[in-house]
Amino acid sequence: MPGIFRDRTKLSPRYVPEELPHRQQQIQQIVHVFSEAATDPDRFPLTILQVVGNAGIGKSTTVIKSAKALEDRFAQNHLALKTAYINLKLQGGNKFAIYRFLLERLAPDLPSQGLSAEEMLRYLLRYLRDNKQYALIIMDEIDYLIKTSKDSSIIYDLTRLNEFEPDKPCNIKGVIFICRSTDFYSRLDPAELSTLGRVPMEFQPYSLEQVSDILSSRCKQAFNSRAIGSDVIDQVARITISPQVNGDVRYALDLLLYAGNLAESQGTEHVTLDQVRKVHGQTSPSITTEEIEQLSRNQLVSLVAVVRALKSRKKQYVELKDIRLHAAELAEQLGIKKMEVEDHLDELKVRKLIEVRSFKEIGLHGAALSELEPILMNKVKQG
Ligand SMILES: Nc1ncnc2c1ncn2[C@@H]1O[C@H](COP(=O)(O)OP(=O)(O)OP(=O)(O)O)[C@@H](O)[C@H]1O
Ligand SMILES: [Mg+2]
Repeated sequence: MPGIFRDRTKLSPRYVPEELPHRQQQIQQIVHVFSEAATDPDRFPLTILQVVGNAGIGKSTTVIKSAKALEDRFAQNHLALKTAYINLKLQGGNKFAIYRFLLERLAPDLPSQGLSAEEMLRYLLRYLRDNKQYALIIMDEIDYLIKTSKDSSIIYDLTRLNEFEPDKPCNIKGVIFICRSTDFYSRLDPAELSTLGRVPMEFQPYSLEQVSDILSSRCKQAFNSRAIGSDVIDQVARITISPQVNGDVRYALDLLLYAGNLAESQGTEHVTLDQVRKVHGQTSPSITTEEIEQLSRNQLVSLVAVVRALKSRKKQYVELKDIRLHAAELAEQLGIKKMEVEDHLDELKVRKLIEVRSFKEIGLHGAALSELEPILMNKVKQG
């Protein structure tokens, strides 16, 4: 009997699918914006593009695919275009660290030590020009960076790269900013807002039929054909467009993965509707495996401390001092250094994992999050 999975890694958040059904139009649009750069790059001006839309609806994947297509176009014309993709939620750090990362990606043989932030960009531009290379920068989750740091000058810098040496062509042809919403505009100053441009490209959530299509195409790669039926796919698609999940395809892929694992361990021939229901009841759309992986150890410990404090108090909200107590206990249990939970609560709040009304009222963002304690603890122990 063939197993449930053909290749379960095809459901992983790190896998970039070959096919992107229902985002072809967006890919074309993005490629179109930069298409003339591939024919006459030196006359093509620095172009800023913003992509906005809800969580898990294919923004990052679409932009990455578009960049790949543009690289191919440049290559066809015997030109070199390199893409620097930065996820600011993962990368973190200040402007300095972000520019250093840019340099590593785009000009690996250029030393960045001892340079100021401005010098790094200046040298990068010169390097690209000297080496006849062009670049595209993708700044993913820019809203996260602006919400967590006080310094928004990165937007100012990157949208004015052409002004560093105004009389010379700027070899960075495009900067694409990706965000979930434009709420962060309120934290920008007028100069930043003006060069950013106020007209983002908006990605609409997928419809029920579209989600079904997308999941079918992902399942073909991940599951053995008899292991998953269209009834299960339709069920997961319906869950995906429910207000609770709000169209997040990432959650749908997780659900399929966990349901497949459950089918395997229960020894059924295929994934059943019951297994999907069971997994959906236990997991929480408010946190996905990808998000868990993105958390630092201290953030994980803080989150578990919140969960435990809530459980022991049997209340919807607890006070900071309760959480501190549980964090200290956890640190001891794990044999790690004691930490200041309040340093991490802010991040957890921005990630919408916890709700902080005041220091006396701290709760979880999604009720089902409390079910996740074993998964979180596992991750903490893995280090
Ligand atoms: N049209 C599609 N076809 C196949 N897979 C898709 C499609 N759209 C999204 N996905 C998958 O869904 C997951 C989420 O997509 P992606 O990471 O691009 O979302 P996002 O809009 O950037 O979300 P976020 O705002 O959370 O960063 C990825 O694993 C991606 O491969
Ligand atoms: Mg994304």
